[in-house]
Amino acid sequence: MKIILLGAPGSGKGTMAQKLTSDLKIPQISTGDIFRKNLKEETPLGLQVKDIMARGELVPDEITIEIVKNRLAEADCANGYILDGFPRSIVQAEALDKFQQIDCAINLDVDKEAIVKRLSGRRFCPDCNGTFHISSLTDAAVCPACGGKLVIRADDSEETVRERLHVYDVNTFPLIEYYTKQGKVLTVDGNGSIDEVYNRILAVLNK
Ligand code: AP5
Ligand code: MG
Ligand code: ZN
Repeated sequence: MKIILLGAPGSGKGTMAQKLTSDLKIPQISTGDIFRKNLKEETPLGLQVKDIMARGELVPDEITIEIVKNRLAEADCANGYILDGFPRSIVQAEALDKFQQIDCAINLDVDKEAIVKRLSGRRFCPDCNGTFHISSLTDAAVCPACGGKLVIRADDSEETVRERLHVYDVNTFPLIEYYTKQGKVLTVDGNGSIDEVYNRILAVLNK
């Protein structure tokens, strides 16, 4: 199954992708994680995207498309994958249509207040890409999955979150209509607990 996860920053794309990956045994392709890994390792790509990400803007389409195209051509994607954070613009969606046939786009629909609450308490593990919320951590500094040191993402500052939400409204929200025209959108209520949302996703995928 080739699945796109659509949704605003903080809607739970990464959280749901991690659960789907372990249940469906297909890889999670997160462009955000790929960029953060390059940032951490200070690769040329990492240096190129550093300021763009810190401002909450989109990395240029041609760079992002090339990375995803190459990643989806790898052997582990042959039976499907979960795209988390790509596509994020009409240009990216049109490019994807040229090299892959996706099955569905799950639109995680979450209230703005919940998004702000989720992002302001998020903790991220750079070692295993695990994403957590302080409300469910016994120790806000230690990754419960791998023991790594949890950090606050650089782009979770109030100002950058505001810009990311704006960029979402302008560039990414139109993708809901784009995939609706293809008959591929499955909208899921993303409010509620992680398990509640995940069960709703499984229910629409099983239909
Ligand atoms: P990216 O890393 O993709 O960030 P994003 O889209 O802003 O989304 P987030 O990762 O912030 O949120 P999420 O939906 O994954 O939510 P999460 O599961 O973490 O992109 C970062 C940057 O990289 C971009 O700004 C851009 O610069 C660049 N970039 C990436 N892709 C690009 C592309 N295609 N083109 C151009 N540039 C690109 O959940 C959030 C929090 O809520 C967590 O703490 C989690 O534990 C908690 N939570 C989740 N679900 C629930 C729930 N149901 N109940 C309670 N808490 C929950
Ligand atoms: Mg994410
Ligand atoms: Zn970890």
